[in-house]
Amino acid sequence: MSKLAILGGPKAVTATPRKYRSMGAEEKQAVAEVMDSDCLSGFYGSWGDEFLGGPRVKAFEAAWAKRFGSRHAVSMNSATSGLVAAMGAIGLGPGDEVIVPPYTMSATAMAPLAYGGIPVFADIEDETFCIDVDAVKAAIGPRTKAIIAVNLFGHPARLHALRALADERGLILIEDNAQAILASETGKYTGTIGHIGVFSLNYHKHIHTGEGGVCLTEDDNLVLRLQMIRNHGENVVEPLELPDIASLVGFNYRLGELAAAIGSVQLAHADRHISRRVAIAEKLSAGLQGLEGLTVPAVRPDCSHAYYVWSARYDERAAGVSREVFSEALTAEGFPHFTGYVRPLYRLPVFQRRIGFGSSGFPFTLTNRRYEGDLCPVAERLYRSELLCFETCMYDLTEAELDQFVAAVRKVHGARGDLRKV
Ligand SMILES: Cc1ncc(COP(=O)(O)O)c(C=O)c1O
Repeated sequence: MSKLAILGGPKAVTATPRKYRSMGAEEKQAVAEVMDSDCLSGFYGSWGDEFLGGPRVKAFEAAWAKRFGSRHAVSMNSATSGLVAAMGAIGLGPGDEVIVPPYTMSATAMAPLAYGGIPVFADIEDETFCIDVDAVKAAIGPRTKAIIAVNLFGHPARLHALRALADERGLILIEDNAQAILASETGKYTGTIGHIGVFSLNYHKHIHTGEGGVCLTEDDNLVLRLQMIRNHGENVVEPLELPDIASLVGFNYRLGELAAAIGSVQLAHADRHISRRVAIAEKLSAGLQGLEGLTVPAVRPDCSHAYYVWSARYDERAAGVSREVFSEALTAEGFPHFTGYVRPLYRLPVFQRRIGFGSSGFPFTLTNRRYEGDLCPVAERLYRSELLCFETCMYDLTEAELDQFVAAVRKVHGARGDLRKV
């Protein structure tokens, strides 16, 4: 085996991986047709047919609902907007609690704050990094209104168990499915098991429209509320003669016609874009299986993984060198990766200083909940020393390049004894 690159040897990865492009001729054509139509958005913020958007938005939503076998799809201009709209749609009010994982993109935990809700953090599972059902049970209190489960890195949370728990306790289950399009649990797509499933179409996701999002729901009441919050809903309470107007203040979360047209094409090719990532991830897992101190991503037997990220667990004690030293050596070999993901979200100043809006501390003035210490030990451990990831989504890789990636990790692992001496 050649000398480690960090010690002056040759790099294991000789190619510079290209960025994966999912946009093609069909997307270009779809954009050109919208430009020719001169209608870049069909929305009006008052009641009528255009309250629900233009022709491409409607076609995109119909296609999305059909693809996922869901009754309703409501497009949004981001998953963040979708999560916030979901909080309003379920009637979340000041002081109501929403159970969230701490190991996710910040928008998951910020969404309840938009309605004065209080995020309550429940720890994650070691194996899949998704919210732990027992930790959720322990976090439920008299003010709990909802649970947001994140299908992190593309693997489903224990969604059926969480849905059963939510139904039993009169709670709402929201799925943050931003990272897991076309993943499944017991044959059912993620995003369709909770009361509302939220997808992201931002530039970094499996399929994208630059920015964008979609909410799925089976519920006829929730769909109307999502549509209203998306588009200045306060204006349509009277024409619709709605008795329950709580949290129907609307925003502009509308998706434009260009993005919707692109989204329809991307959706039609979603299987191709996702199976490409799955192939990359499976090859990495097969090539790196069984290395002492490195656990390749788990896939629960009843699940399929969408591999937004290939997420391995590193055990410093078993490997004999720290994750940081191992990671530096991997970087020197030319293997692109990242470690740790995010600091558990309760460490953010918004929670540590308990100031949401204004300077008096709202909405934390409504709760005795505190965010002190190592609230969620599993998330802390993954962040500090265990998680080691590769972004399957980013690169367009040949088999030979993938072989080099595998070889880079095996090389560093095989020579990690040399790293102890540095
Ligand atoms: C888990 C998760 N939730 C929510 C979001 C927010 O998505 P968007 O950028 O579409 O608002 C992201 C984006 O990365 C995410 O990864």
